[in-house]
Amino acid sequence: MDLHPFSNIMSPTDIWFGPGSAGRIAEACQELHLDRVLLVADRYLVSSGSIRVVTDRLDHAGITYHVLSEFHPSPAVSEVEAACDVMRDHQLQGVIGFGGGSSLDVAKAVAMLQTNPLPVNQYAGMYKVPRKSAPLILIATTAGTGSEVSIGSILKDDVTHVKLGIQSKHILADISIADPELTISMPPALTAYTGMDALTHGIEGYVSRFGNDVLRLLQREGIRLISGSLRTAVFNGKDIQARQNVMMGSMLVGWAMASSRLGACHAMAYPVEAKHTAAHGEVNAALLPAVMRFNALGDLPRFRELAELLGEPVEGLSDRQAAFRGVEAVETLSADIGIQRLGALGVTEDELPEMADIAVNYERLMVANPRKVSFEDAMQIYRDAM
Ligand SMILES: NC(=O)c1ccc[n+]([C@@H]2O[C@H](COP(=O)([O-])OP(=O)(O)OC[C@H]3O[C@@H](n4cnc5c(N)ncnc54)[C@H](O)[C@@H]3O)[C@@H](O)[C@H]2O)c1
Ligand SMILES: [Fe+2]
Repeated sequence: MDLHPFSNIMSPTDIWFGPGSAGRIAEACQELHLDRVLLVADRYLVSSGSIRVVTDRLDHAGITYHVLSEFHPSPAVSEVEAACDVMRDHQLQGVIGFGGGSSLDVAKAVAMLQTNPLPVNQYAGMYKVPRKSAPLILIATTAGTGSEVSIGSILKDDVTHVKLGIQSKHILADISIADPELTISMPPALTAYTGMDALTHGIEGYVSRFGNDVLRLLQREGIRLISGSLRTAVFNGKDIQARQNVMMGSMLVGWAMASSRLGACHAMAYPVEAKHTAAHGEVNAALLPAVMRFNALGDLPRFRELAELLGEPVEGLSDRQAAFRGVEAVETLSADIGIQRLGALGVTEDELPEMADIAVNYERLMVANPRKVSFEDAMQIYRDAM
């Protein structure tokens, strides 16, 4: 076991997992002594009525809530700051986030600002949040970003549109609810993108320089569950077992992500997201095989393990052959579920130098990547993904 004394295993929030667990929202509020809350959920989740699984229970329990949905997918810093005073104005005690990563990340940032009054940008980076957030309950409706158990809130800078990450255990949820029934309403494309985001968290975390054997226990099972069930979740979305597997996988790798961090794939996805409207998971998925092909040569035995986790028979193969089987497995999965190449997402060759320059300077992520990525390397990876 290569768990040395300095290995970090951050333990997550209290997790309530399973079909029907969202129905326990009033109980969660009562446990945290909340009777006036801010409910953060994006416009679609409010207009489609999805949010009623929460509001009906709150109404029944006599818990007062104010709904906040004035933000966009991949929310911007200014959208969070604009919401900051709402809690004070309405004298609310805590925050419920309901939704995908965008809603949960807004909920986390708003809760953080209640006890940490500086502008949001001041808290970007690792461990820069000095005080614990206001009480926070997160309910995931995608599977996913892992935000319900992660220490991150990812927001877009209003000027550059590049994503910044607030990473601190002080923004972890007090109670995290992961109810696979909520993910049944996801259409196939959203299921595919969010599932591939989760798989990317698992794969990047598994090969990270900050990895250790305990984290890899979580990531191993997570990668198996996601890669084994994502096709069914995409093409037979009512299959609750497949939905549960992908959500559990997403949560396990999201939990490990706090300590393992991510790597070059996320660092290279962020500048693409700054310029194009493609979804976060879609961009990660388009880049993942190219990043794996580059990284595999830096740690062939670990990539051999990945291939096995992805269901590839590797007996009798060299480490190199096995490692590249794993890359092919990810490419085949992506093709099966309709993931497009980077060029089809609108990225053009002339944008690549600027993107590569931003990507290699994402220190927080690149430092965890198993192989150092130079500007030229980043250009080559982008071209491979086009
Ligand atoms: N905090 C973290 O640790 C972390 C990790 C990875 C990604 N992220 C961030 O999360 C964001 C992406 O989140 P996401 O991929 O979950 O998508 P999202 O939250 O942006 O939602 C995308 C769309 O799906 C809809 N939706 C959500 N749940 C649904 C459901 N059950 N049925 C039907 N529609 C539903 C939403 O209303 C929205 O229109 C990005 O900003 C990304 O950077 C955060
Ligand atoms: Fe992600």
